[in-house]
Amino acid sequence: MSVEECKVNKTMRFGACARSGVTRRVGSALAGSLLALAASAAEPRIRLATDAQAALVESRCSSCHSLDYIVMNSTFLGRAGWDAEVRKMMKVMGAPIPENDVAPIVEYLTKHYGAE
Ligand code: HEC
Repeated sequence: MSVEECKVNKTMRFGACARSGVTRRVGSALAGSLLALAASAAEPRIRLATDAQAALVESRCSSCHSLDYIVMNSTFLGRAGWDAEVRKMMKVMGAPIPENDVAPIVEYLTKHYGAE
């Protein structure tokens, strides 16, 4: 995958671009800002938007990776996208999320981090 594809493909998610390792091969301003993002992802915790579901989402979604993953993907995922993302975390990544928690989590993600 090329840097251009990462920039122009609107369906591309941050995780896929980050995994391709393209940021290491370019010296552009884009690479600089991506590296800065990667550095801030090393922070122990970021604060998500506060509401009744925030603690639930933080506890279910922060055990394997930084909550930055939610913020980074907010420009790509609408309600259906977040629903699929949460189910992928459960089925593919093995996240131990009870079915009852899926709806409130998706509701929260769509409300605060949903794409237009
Ligand atoms: C069991 C571990 C685990 C849990 C819990 C988990 N994830 Fe993930 N998640 C992963 C892995 C593994 C990846 C891929 C890592 C990478 O790309 O560096 C990932 C990647 C992502 C991505 C990047 C896009 C993608 O699909 O690769 C998003 C967004 C995401 N997770 C959101 C969430 C949300 C929201 C929750 C809570 C509902 C959650 N994760 C809980 C393991 C988990």
